[in-house]
Amino acid sequence: MLHMFNTVGLSSLLAIPGVTALLLPRQEQSFASTGNPILADGSIYSADPAPLVVNGSLYILTGRDEAGPAENAFIMNEWQVFSTETPDPLGSSWSLHQKIAQPQDVFSWADDGSAYAGQIVQGQDGRFYFYAPIKQRDTNSTDPFGIGVAVADGPLGPFTDLHPSGPIISQSVPAPGNTIQNIDPTVLVDTDGRIFIYFGTFGQLRGYELEADMITPKGSVTVVSTLTGFFEAPWLMKRGDTYYMLYAANNAGQDSPCTPTSYHACLAYGTASSPLGPWTFQGVFMDIVSSTTSHPGLFEWTNDEWYLVYHTRDAVGGTHFRRSVAFDKLLWDDSSSPPSIQKVVQTHRPAGSTQPTRNIASKATASANVTTPIQYWIAALNDERIETNPLPPDVWSSYNGEQSPQSMSLTYDWNSTVQANGVRVVFFADQPAGSNVGVPPPASWKVEYLNGNIWNPVNASDAYPTDVTDDPVEVSFATVETAALRVILEASGSGGQFGGVGVKEWEVMTPVAS
Ligand SMILES: *[C@@H]1O[C@H](CO)[C@@H](O)[C@H](O)[C@H]1NC(C)=O
Ligand SMILES: *[C@@H]1O[C@H](CO)[C@@H](O)[C@H](O)[C@H]1NC(C)=O
Ligand SMILES: *[C@@H]1O[C@H](CO)[C@@H](O)[C@H](O)[C@H]1NC(C)=O
Ligand SMILES: *[C@@H]1O[C@H](CO)[C@@H](O)[C@H](O)[C@H]1NC(C)=O
Ligand SMILES: *[C@@H]1O[C@H](CO)[C@@H](O)[C@H](O)[C@H]1NC(C)=O
Repeated sequence: MLHMFNTVGLSSLLAIPGVTALLLPRQEQSFASTGNPILADGSIYSADPAPLVVNGSLYILTGRDEAGPAENAFIMNEWQVFSTETPDPLGSSWSLHQKIAQPQDVFSWADDGSAYAGQIVQGQDGRFYFYAPIKQRDTNSTDPFGIGVAVADGPLGPFTDLHPSGPIISQSVPAPGNTIQNIDPTVLVDTDGRIFIYFGTFGQLRGYELEADMITPKGSVTVVSTLTGFFEAPWLMKRGDTYYMLYAANNAGQDSPCTPTSYHACLAYGTASSPLGPWTFQGVFMDIVSSTTSHPGLFEWTNDEWYLVYHTRDAVGGTHFRRSVAFDKLLWDDSSSPPSIQKVVQTHRPAGSTQPTRNIASKATASANVTTPIQYWIAALNDERIETNPLPPDVWSSYNGEQSPQSMSLTYDWNSTVQANGVRVVFFADQPAGSNVGVPPPASWKVEYLNGNIWNPVNASDAYPTDVTDDPVEVSFATVETAALRVILEASGSGGQFGGVGVKEWEVMTPVAS
């Protein structure tokens, strides 16, 4: 491993044209982390982490997110590896080995792009086997993804296709079957040398044993349907005599232990006493993160010290499609049988100094007096994020098809009395003003404050603007002292049918910034 430690930070190096290539011909860079996400400056994003410990070094295989700031798509063209000899979620020194592989370079049958979640495991022969979801260039399958296998002498490659005739698992091999999207492979080389692979997404989880050649599926497919809320991203592992399947789940709902909104995934797990199951659901072990996905990978560092690796959108410029790898300690409860996984606590690097702000909305608890459909999220109102191109959970909306309500209110409750003298409401709309379908701008709105137990109008100096802009003018009003404020919204509509109202953010201003 290269140890050319520098303190200038990755982004400043990359910003000097030519210098990167000159100093670092193998595209290896060292950087210091001060906490999660491990590389937080937004210079390089990283997603779908798969950890591997070799000889006292940790390697984390990831894809690289290259979506633009407002682009809602997984733009992933290459794999990269982070490595360290001192993994510590609170800060440590790392190397980033960029572009260790690209699909079309390693697999002659691959389409380019779609460098999605893969895993590198060490075989019994000591070599490194890279299981990767690969989009086949020529296929008659309804879904082109298959699982390719490449091998190398070290965890950083260079990798050579071990099965150059194509994927080992796809919709047509082992012929025909697996009529799912065959991505997210996870592989376990068991203590007795047997090899097992699981894969799948969109609620479908499948598995096989592999022959000792690491490529040939043995017997028939195992279909797993007992893991509650399974969505994707399986991670197969073993501790003691127990097999564990970690995965991304999204059984959503207001009372769900997993996630309140349908787009986010929590992390859940099941156990089995043999590697092909049967699998028993055990519970949720990590709550949703800032990005809709979080993708688990687990590693044992030394002596039963375990860490969960995942991704978030917490780096500078991060989005649901510009994710960054983070990791935190994972603890077992050996008093239960089989041993259970304790809830993982997410840690974050210390926040930088924040600008003083008059907006006190984030200190309030938000609620709506109408049902919030499951794809939207009440917490979007005061999360201090205004997305140019939001996903549904980045917005609060009343949109409920033909049942969207005509009148509704959104309320902020503070724990103590606050002073307020202005609001800004950032509306979301996908239909023109006056429409009675989709999400048009509202017909009108106004603000009231709680005076004792009576709602009174605030004395607003200006009209309440309904135009759709991410930077609306502040509606000012004579200062009120109150513990609650509400916005009354009238939906746009006609003929007895109303569009939804969409709000990206609702800011409440106090007179003096702090
Ligand atoms: C691990 O250590 C052994 C013994 O020193 C060495 O032979 C092997 O090459 C090392 N493997 C890697 C991947 O560094
Ligand atoms: C797809 O189907 C056509 C028609 O049956 C066949 O000629 C072609 O070889 C198939 N392509 C692949 C990649 O299997
Ligand atoms: C308000 O108070 C409750 C109870 O003390 C507390 O749980 C909650 O976090 C507080 N909310 C905010 C936004 O500070
Ligand atoms: C929600 O609040 C609005 C505005 O005050 C009111 O017109 C409407 O009836 C309320 N809806 C429900 C379901 O309480
Ligand atoms: C409302 O505010 C305006 C100035 O912003 C002030 O002239 C007026 O007296 C206020 N009215 C009430 C009822 O507070």
